[in-house]
Amino acid sequence: MKTRAAVMWEAGKSWEIVDLELDPPKAGEVQIKFVASGMCHSDDHLRTGDLPSRYPIVGGHEGAGIVEAVGDGVFDIAVGDHVVCSFLPTCGKCRWCSTGHQNLCDMGALLLEGCLPDTTFRFHSGEQDVSGMCMLGTFSERAVVSRNSVVKIDDDLPLEKAALVGCGVPTGWGSAVYAAEVKPGETVVIFGVGGIGINSVQGAKHAGARHIIAVDPVEFKRVKALEFGATHAVATGEEAIALAYEVTNGVGADSAIVTVGVVASKVVEDAFNSTRKLGTTVVVGLGNMMENTIQLNGDVLTLYQKTVKGSLFGNSNPMHDIKNILSLYRDGLYKLDELVTKTYSLDDINQGYEDMAAGENLRGVILYS
Ligand SMILES: NC(=O)c1ccc[n+]([C@@H]2O[C@H](COP(=O)([O-])OP(=O)(O)OC[C@H]3O[C@@H](n4cnc5c(N)ncnc54)[C@H](O)[C@@H]3O)[C@@H](O)[C@H]2O)c1
Ligand SMILES: [Zn+2]
Ligand SMILES: [Zn+2]
Repeated sequence: MKTRAAVMWEAGKSWEIVDLELDPPKAGEVQIKFVASGMCHSDDHLRTGDLPSRYPIVGGHEGAGIVEAVGDGVFDIAVGDHVVCSFLPTCGKCRWCSTGHQNLCDMGALLLEGCLPDTTFRFHSGEQDVSGMCMLGTFSERAVVSRNSVVKIDDDLPLEKAALVGCGVPTGWGSAVYAAEVKPGETVVIFGVGGIGINSVQGAKHAGARHIIAVDPVEFKRVKALEFGATHAVATGEEAIALAYEVTNGVGADSAIVTVGVVASKVVEDAFNSTRKLGTTVVVGLGNMMENTIQLNGDVLTLYQKTVKGSLFGNSNPMHDIKNILSLYRDGLYKLDELVTKTYSLDDINQGYEDMAAGENLRGVILYS
């Protein structure tokens, strides 16, 4: 079968819309017709080369759609089911899955290779295999993915919004609720109000934070942060650090979360310096994988007993948290509709990423017809 998809042939190019050949699902796989795909910053790291992957690659890892076909041995997903893709597959059996850390499932070892578990590819351009971002490739009308990468959701939920719960929503929400372990009354500083950071704001609010200080150089993002529950919004790290000490009587923030688009040393240092003794800095954003992007004062770390930790998918368990957040949305407790600033056709994907870079979108979303 043919599918139209956005392909990155090599780092440094633009997304190109091409027709690819798509194999039918093998055992343990499902074929999805996508309704929508969010445009996460991580796909832009494929363009810049910050995230070294196997090229050529179909981008996109934040998708939702309808199952069109299932392979042998798939008994719990049926044709017609509505599904959200999890950007992290979960086998349910490995050490990490079986101890409540599905986000760290060993199947994730294949993410940058972009192949399916039998190490073959379902997208092809002539004789050439084409991989899929996070073993998915949601910048395509259709994809064949592992059953372990999909979560079935209720039919009444809007797929064009639910797509965002495949990456940005749980990553941000969980960064505050699970990784930073925000408690009622605490002070949290969130660096970067994009598709991830705006959900960190929502997570911090859910967890009962008293002060939520959002930091972003873009005014539109600061306005949005306040709408989503931030108590303060500032443009620079210096202002954020001063504010964190001011609102805590000189103690410092309980936690800081780094969700900027491209992580560099300065922003992590600002986050670290905004936190109190025993405070926690959570790093969610990615930078150039080939560089050491974090440099901190080790004595401050030691003497103030601070913690710096990374967080993948907000430490969430995809099979539980995707449905849990959608339940919060249905009950009016989660802002999902408001996250979508602008929608695009697949043909306009490069424009969508230009708009992201210009700070115009909380999230841009591709809609398929
Ligand atoms: N750890 C994970 O599981 C995970 C999952 C998804 C995405 N990510 C990563 O998270 C990062 C954010 O993704 P996104 O989709 O929200 O990106 P985005 O481009 O939508 O948002 C990034 C925001 O950071 C702001 N920013 C840039 N420099 C800043 C600075 N010095 N201080 C404060 N704000 C600054 C930008 O103005 C923008 O609003 C990316 O690096 C992405 O790859 C990580
Ligand atoms: Zn993502
Ligand atoms: Zn596993």
